[in-house]
Amino acid sequence: MKLYIDTADLREINEIYGYGVLQGVTTNPSLVAKALTSAGETFSSEDAFYARFKEVIKQIATLVKAPVSAEVLSSKAEDMYKEAKELAAIDENVVIKLPMNEEGLQTCSKLATDGIAVNMTLVFSANQALLAARAGAKYISPFIGRIDDTGADGMQLIRDIREIGDIHGLTAEIIAASVRHPQHVTQAALAGAHIATVPYKVIRAMVKHPLTDIGIRRFLSDWEKAKREL
Ligand code: E4P
Repeated sequence: MKLYIDTADLREINEIYGYGVLQGVTTNPSLVAKALTSAGETFSSEDAFYARFKEVIKQIATLVKAPVSAEVLSSKAEDMYKEAKELAAIDENVVIKLPMNEEGLQTCSKLATDGIAVNMTLVFSANQALLAARAGAKYISPFIGRIDDTGADGMQLIRDIREIGDIHGLTAEIIAASVRHPQHVTQAALAGAHIATVPYKVIRAMVKHPLTDIGIRRFLSDWEKAKREL
């Protein structure tokens, strides 16, 4: 399973990119808004805000040189298509994120015909995933954490989509999204997700194990002790 980071914060991407574990980035409008406003940036108009959004996507794509999902904000198919074309022109690694609805499907199939990679987002059922795959989406993003929040089992959806994909030879890659904790990452890998897109904090938590820290301290103190006794 490949690992993506789910953020629009360049400092976070930069740090995790340095670990050598990242194979892509996903963003969404909430994440971009959070990254820009938490950096204290202000904008004089909606156009200025949108221009900055495109700049951020360019910066991320330049840094990681790997797929970067950028989500359209339009709601009508015609506008989504136009917006998607603009976003795709930012960098060859930009993947267009479209919402899983009728307008998104129409736009997805047109973009797929144009050879533009689509990540169909906000997927909450196996049937939605099947439709997205048939519309030519390269990636499908089931939101496991948000499903868990409703009391259902998000991971079961990953297993179902993977099974359907395998039975029917679908080529779309499953991105386990809305990941909330390290266990989700392990479970997604076991459930057959091709990719997990993981928030910064969760990646940091994946690195850690208390026994590793204890082990490092003990090795060093044993070494120091031996040196003193030389
Ligand atoms: C996926 O691409 C989305 O950005 C994401 O994982 C949303 O997850 P959330 O439920 O944490 O907002």
